[in-house]
Amino acid sequence: MKIESQTQMYEGSPWCLGRYESFEINKPKLITLLNHDYVIWKDKQGNLNALDNICPHAGANLAKGGHIVEFEHKSCLACPYHGNKVQFLGDGKVIVDGNISTKEIQPVLPLQVVNGLVWTYGLNWEEQNGKSISQPIEPRLPIPDYKNINFLPEYNPQLNLSELNHIYSFSESFNGNIDQLMWNAHDGEHFAGTHYDSMLTKDIKIENLTQDENKISWQIFLHKRDDKQVNKNKMNPLVNDVVIQCINSFLPSLLILTNEIAKGKLFVGIAYSYPESPTKTKFCVDGYLNFKYAWWHKLLKFPQKGNNFRDTLLFEDLTILNNLYPTFNKKIALKNDTPAELAMNYLKNQNY
Ligand code: FES
Ligand SMILES: [Fe+2]
Repeated sequence: MKIESQTQMYEGSPWCLGRYESFEINKPKLITLLNHDYVIWKDKQGNLNALDNICPHAGANLAKGGHIVEFEHKSCLACPYHGNKVQFLGDGKVIVDGNISTKEIQPVLPLQVVNGLVWTYGLNWEEQNGKSISQPIEPRLPIPDYKNINFLPEYNPQLNLSELNHIYSFSESFNGNIDQLMWNAHDGEHFAGTHYDSMLTKDIKIENLTQDENKISWQIFLHKRDDKQVNKNKMNPLVNDVVIQCINSFLPSLLILTNEIAKGKLFVGIAYSYPESPTKTKFCVDGYLNFKYAWWHKLLKFPQKGNNFRDTLLFEDLTILNNLYPTFNKKIALKNDTPAELAMNYLKNQNY
C-alpha cells in the first residue's frame, strides 16, 4: 500500500517501553513493537524478561493467559495452551516435558533499564526458507541522556526519576505514525487551537530554541485568554496567566516537558512513543512532581483535578491524531511551527 511504504519506523532508534516500576511482578504484558508482538514479565528478583509472544508449539498468544511458574528456582512463563508441558525461560530456553533445551528456542527481545525507564532497539524479522528469523536491530542513536537537559531549575539541576514522585500515567495507541506524533509534540501553534478550551491559550511565544542533531529544546510561553467565557470554564482555576513549558525532545522517541507550577514546585512530564506498525503508534506520558501532595491538596482534590486536566489535554491531541490524513500537500506555514519543522527536517534527512 502506498501510505505504508512511505511511512518510516526509524529502525535503529531506541524505544522506551515504559517505567521499570510500571511492570508488575509475575504479570505478563503484551507489547507490539515494529510489527511484532512480545511478552514481557518482571520476575520476583526484579529482572525483566521479554520474548517473542508466539508459542512455537501451536501458536498460542503467551501474554494472553500465560502464567509464571518456578522451575528449579528460576522464573518461567507457562504457555496458556499446554503450560503443564511447555514453559519459557527469560533467556529463550524452553522447558519441554521437564527438560531444558540446550539452545535459545524462543527469540529474546533485549531490554535495558536506564534512569528508571525500560528501553529496547527491537528485533528485525525476516522470512528465510519459510521460517521467521529474528536479529537484534543495530543501534543508530544512543539511549537519550535525559538526566542533563536544558531549562532545569537550580533546585533540581538533574533529572533523576527515582527522586521524583510519580503521579500520572497515560498510555494509548492511535492510528497514525511517528512523524505525525512528532509534529504534534513539537507544534507550538496548536495550544490555541486543539487546546483552546483546556489550556485556555490566547498567545504563544517560543523562546530559546536550539537543535543539536536529534535533540531539540525550546520554551513555550502560553498567555491565557481573557475573554468572558474563561471565567465560566472549569479549567480556569488550573491554568496560570502565563504557562511556561520547557521542552527537551530526543527524536524520534522521547520528549521531556518541565513546568514550574508554583515557586519551587516542578512538574515533569515524560512522553515517549514507539511504532507498533507503520500506521499504529503507542503514545505514553508519565507525570512526576518534585514534591508530595499535602493533606489539604488531597482534601481539595488537587491530584484528581490535575490528572483529569492531563487526560483532557492528551485526549484532545489523540482525537486530532486519530483523524489526520497521512498524506497532504503542505502549502501553509505558521509562525510557531518552527520546532515541528526542525523535527520533520531532521527525520526526513536520516535515510533510515
Ligand atoms: S501452544 Fe504453547 S505449548 Fe502448545
Ligand atoms: Fe497537545
